[in-house]
Amino acid sequence: MIDLNIVNEPLKRSIRRARERNIIIPTFKQMKNPDLIPGRIKKELAGIGLWSIDARNLFRITWKNEPVESGGGFGFVNYIEFPPSLTGVEARIIAPVGKWFPTGAHKVGATFACLVPRLVTGQFDPTTQKAVWPSTGNYCRGGAYDSSLLACESIAILPEEMSRERFEWLSKVAGQVIKTPGSESNVKEIFDKCWELKKTGEDLIIFNQFDEFGNYLWHYEITGHAMEEVLAKEMGPLDRYCGVVLTTGSAGTIGCGDYLKQIFPTSKIAASEALQCPTLLLNGYGAHRIEGIGDKHVPWIHNVKNTDMVMAIDDNAVVNLARLFNEPAGRSFLISKGVPADLVENLDLLGFSGIANLLSAIKFARYYELGRHDVVLSILTDSMELYESRLKEMHEEYGKYTDIHASAHFARYLQGVSTDNLIELRYIERRRIHNLKYYTWVEQQGKTYEEIIEQWYDPDYWTNIQKQVPEIDAFIEEFNRQVGLPE
Ligand SMILES: Cc1ncc(COP(=O)(O)O)c(C=O)c1O
Repeated sequence: MIDLNIVNEPLKRSIRRARERNIIIPTFKQMKNPDLIPGRIKKELAGIGLWSIDARNLFRITWKNEPVESGGGFGFVNYIEFPPSLTGVEARIIAPVGKWFPTGAHKVGATFACLVPRLVTGQFDPTTQKAVWPSTGNYCRGGAYDSSLLACESIAILPEEMSRERFEWLSKVAGQVIKTPGSESNVKEIFDKCWELKKTGEDLIIFNQFDEFGNYLWHYEITGHAMEEVLAKEMGPLDRYCGVVLTTGSAGTIGCGDYLKQIFPTSKIAASEALQCPTLLLNGYGAHRIEGIGDKHVPWIHNVKNTDMVMAIDDNAVVNLARLFNEPAGRSFLISKGVPADLVENLDLLGFSGIANLLSAIKFARYYELGRHDVVLSILTDSMELYESRLKEMHEEYGKYTDIHASAHFARYLQGVSTDNLIELRYIERRRIHNLKYYTWVEQQGKTYEEIIEQWYDPDYWTNIQKQVPEIDAFIEEFNRQVGLPE
């Protein structure tokens, strides 16, 4: 569970700091329902950019931001539906959009839920400690961003081969940026760096997304509710919600599946990864190009027992579809194939893992032979905005993108999605994946044998975490009250 014990002296300093820096912290309730945000704060937001380093942007940690770059208010969850002309399947594939979070990615919410419970209980002291955000992707960007909004110092750690955009932006936001060897799946090197930092004696708290239950909880509660609202809006009387399909990195996002399965008990949860690094599918390893996912181990916060399917997506499909979706010749081709022009214009809402999510959802729909009344959910975690340099690199390496490329990529990578590299998990296969946690977490990273057993056998292990939201909200409200700024 998330530790909510109060530490008095740091808490007093934290409250004083928030007062001095004009910081008010939103509750989970407000992130779910921005109608509850006080009018005065909404008025202030009208003059603030979506990505600005301004404490009021904490209130924009919600799926419901108006999709504009500055001054936006709040509306319904941002989402899109992919039609059969694009997917090649009849099933309704729907995905909330992450681009309209500050930082352009949904992980800014997960990091909020890791840092804030520690801040409002006094477990993290912003006047003496630094927050360390180890990650291969947007979690580290979100962590550095939230830290600066909350007046906390931060250190971002990420692999040196991540996209140039990530480093450029991080260098402006994080107190310090540390590059570790390798690429997307080199998480062990990041863990090693954390241990190295710990040994320096500097006063640090490491927010490891792979074992921070705030990450799981934010997605369970906030992403889960957002998806529920989308279903309520979209589903007709004959429609059936079949499941959520997501590529996993830290397995935080897939926590929304636990929420949805409680409401729709027959629905499924499918986890996807890169074929070049098939850890869940094959206990495999390897480097791949889908930034943000697939890290050569099973995250501590992954509720594997509740996962119904694992599958893997070829990263060649993802990078080539990124070209099809974004190059002018690719877009014209899609329109000629009957994909609605207004959707084609929005295909840059899919970053690399968003494309992998779409392909995974298609695979799921093909496997279960889903029809037009069947609804499948996924997520567009971030957008092409964060990968422009990758598109340029591909342009330089492979040359101009033509109609012939577009036609081949459409046929092979979209229409050709099949049910290969997929397992519908039996009990014993779930157990096999859960057991893999032992080597990373108990042997290497200090988790206990007792807890790995509880994760599997204790029926209350996951629900006890899920029940912590009201208590965290009460801490946030009390913290704001003591800070005493007018809302
Ligand atoms: C771009 C991108 N896609 C997917 C993910 C995977 O999400 P999760 O770590 O919640 O499994 C991340 C995580 O940071 C990400 O940055």
